[in-house]
Amino acid sequence: MDYTTFGRTGLRVSVAGLGCGGFSRLGLTAGASEDHAIGIVRGALDLGVNIVDTASVYGTEEVVGKALRDVPRDSVVICTKASKPAGDKHFSVEKILESLDASLKRLQVDHVDVFQLHAVPPDAYDYVRAEIAPALLREKEKGKFRFLGITETAPNDHEQEMLGRASQDGIWDTAMLAFHLMDQVARNQVFPHTMAHGVGTLTMFAVRSIFARPDQLSDTMKGLAAAGLVPAELAQRGNPLDFLVHEGGASNVTDAAYRYVRHEPGVDVVLFGTGSHEHMRTNIQSILKPPLPDADRARLATLFGHLRGVGLQLPPPRA
Ligand SMILES: NC(=O)c1ccc[n+]([C@@H]2O[C@H](COP(=O)([O-])OP(=O)(O)OC[C@H]3O[C@@H](n4cnc5c(N)ncnc54)[C@H](OP(=O)(O)O)[C@@H]3O)[C@@H](O)[C@H]2O)c1
Repeated sequence: MDYTTFGRTGLRVSVAGLGCGGFSRLGLTAGASEDHAIGIVRGALDLGVNIVDTASVYGTEEVVGKALRDVPRDSVVICTKASKPAGDKHFSVEKILESLDASLKRLQVDHVDVFQLHAVPPDAYDYVRAEIAPALLREKEKGKFRFLGITETAPNDHEQEMLGRASQDGIWDTAMLAFHLMDQVARNQVFPHTMAHGVGTLTMFAVRSIFARPDQLSDTMKGLAAAGLVPAELAQRGNPLDFLVHEGGASNVTDAAYRYVRHEPGVDVVLFGTGSHEHMRTNIQSILKPPLPDADRARLATLFGHLRGVGLQLPPPRA
């Protein structure tokens, strides 16, 4: 495993981080047992991962708590989040603080390392900064968490307007954002600010569903070609990204997707979500490989650098 400094938190974190939400939720979405999910967390630690991201809404905090119970507390960076409950019009200080306390209980810890405000839309940001952040910083003083973070709602903020502001405010120690082969907005909109202000970054959506499901990639490319947003010849290929797979390049599309994100200047931690030990092993291998060849990166910038809102699908709501 490779380790890096997580922005101004100063924490040393693995460049590959285990995401406990997304489509897989450690395998729970596909019906895997709690023991299997615990095994995924422990398997990640065995491979050198030392940063784990969960959230109150993922339904994985209890599993993470059980998986980490016998692990020295300071050997793993635990990140969790509180969100605006579905149906509520606004974030509320009271509910966010309740959520923090409930997360600590489910995780069986007296503090988390990074507490994040989850999926903040641009139009909520002024309120969040003025009301929620000061209340959270008082909880930080009580020792309930070490660093304050914020995450975006990628499908609702294609220009990354919220993080463009938040990363320059000096309030948030960490930021979680979308960045991938076909969504390169952060290169100009977020990373210059996070790097200038020492904000630690966690990237999500490296693969998500678009680079895991060949049919989705193919259908997306057809739609983009029909709209004149990508060259028509890409949509005619069985695998529209097969030009990345060659000797000296990527071994397949998911390999390309994780390597692409990992080596972007400004990226600290690449989150991967999985319920599969085999995927975890290959994903970590990909994240540790060298960058894609310069020519491939340049071609991806030319082909897709202008795209907005591609490959940011949300998982179906939990039953
Ligand atoms: N707003 C927010 O705060 C927010 C939003 C979204 C995500 N997140 C965080 O970011 C994390 C990462 O996002 P993500 O879960 O979408 O991760 P991701 O790594 O981009 O995508 C994971 C998906 O790809 C599949 N996959 C992974 N490796 C594969 C491989 N080698 N071959 C084929 N399929 C593969 C997984 O299925 P398998 O189970 O089959 O491997 C899973 O469905 C989340 O877990 C969560 O912690 C935060």
